[in-house]
Amino acid sequence: MAAYVNPGPARPGAHGTIHREVSPEQQAVEQRLVDSVVSSFDACEDPRLKELMVCLVKHLHSFIREARPTEDEWGAAIDFLTRAGHITDDVRQEFILLSDTLGASMQTINVNNQAYKGATEATVFGPFFVEDSPGIELGEDMAFGAPGEPCWVEGTVTDTDGNPLAGARIEVWEADEDGLYDVQYDAGKRAGRAHLFSAADGGYRFWGLTPTPYPIPDDGPVGKMLDAVGRSPLRAAHLHFMVSHQAARTLVTHIFPEGDPIGREDTVFGVKDSLIKRFERQPGGTPTPDGRAIDGTWSRVRFDIVLAPAGI
Ligand code: BEZ
Ligand code: FE
Repeated sequence: MAAYVNPGPARPGAHGTIHREVSPEQQAVEQRLVDSVVSSFDACEDPRLKELMVCLVKHLHSFIREARPTEDEWGAAIDFLTRAGHITDDVRQEFILLSDTLGASMQTINVNNQAYKGATEATVFGPFFVEDSPGIELGEDMAFGAPGEPCWVEGTVTDTDGNPLAGARIEVWEADEDGLYDVQYDAGKRAGRAHLFSAADGGYRFWGLTPTPYPIPDDGPVGKMLDAVGRSPLRAAHLHFMVSHQAARTLVTHIFPEGDPIGREDTVFGVKDSLIKRFERQPGGTPTPDGRAIDGTWSRVRFDIVLAPAGI
């Protein structure tokens, strides 16, 4: 690695960034390196790959030239990534957690799901979706014994002109009241997740659990990073949805209970105002919509899903 060049006196800038004076000669040295790395991609035959690599290198070098990490700091960053790699396996994906907690997942979702008429907003996918969720009929229970307060969820799936979308596949998944997903107990366990299909009038309904806040897995390098910078690992309480239909853009989103104290402090920046819904708590003994007998309290929420057209 090249010898560290003293960048000169530091001065504080906005949001705690440090701006340092760099001589014109030093700037020229640094710029020549950027130019030669950028031109190393000249022969790349895949134009998109070339665009991505050139853009990445320009921004990476901008970061280094602005933050001016010491060689020890750069080594610590590489060590962090190495530890993230070592803890990652088929069920634990530390790089997704890193992307999520830096807001990079959410920003990728923003650029790929641009607002379209009244289409429901998207949010972060998270690491706990599994492909083989059990199928349920309308009105059935997706908790499959997962502990928590029962919650009746209902709504419609329509296009942005209000036409019902029949047969939309609705995947739902959530943590139990202890903040854990089924796969965190045992990779083969299936509870707190299911898929169902919207009816001819676009309607859907099912029993789930009232969502509760829980921490993202924080026993690895990402948890250490959050601790070092004074951030909480807690996610705002939420219920995940993925809704797909042949005529529509697939929607990956959550709904968040109104009044959750975590709210905007969500550690993966997933909360959007339009996705905050009123979960109305029902006192014990309140009749349920389908006659199900419930001993204690339960809640109910309405979530009308509007899908943008396919190809948007
Ligand atoms: C989740 O929604 O469960 C989740 C999302 C991002 C990181 C960790 C967990
Ligand atoms: Fe989640």
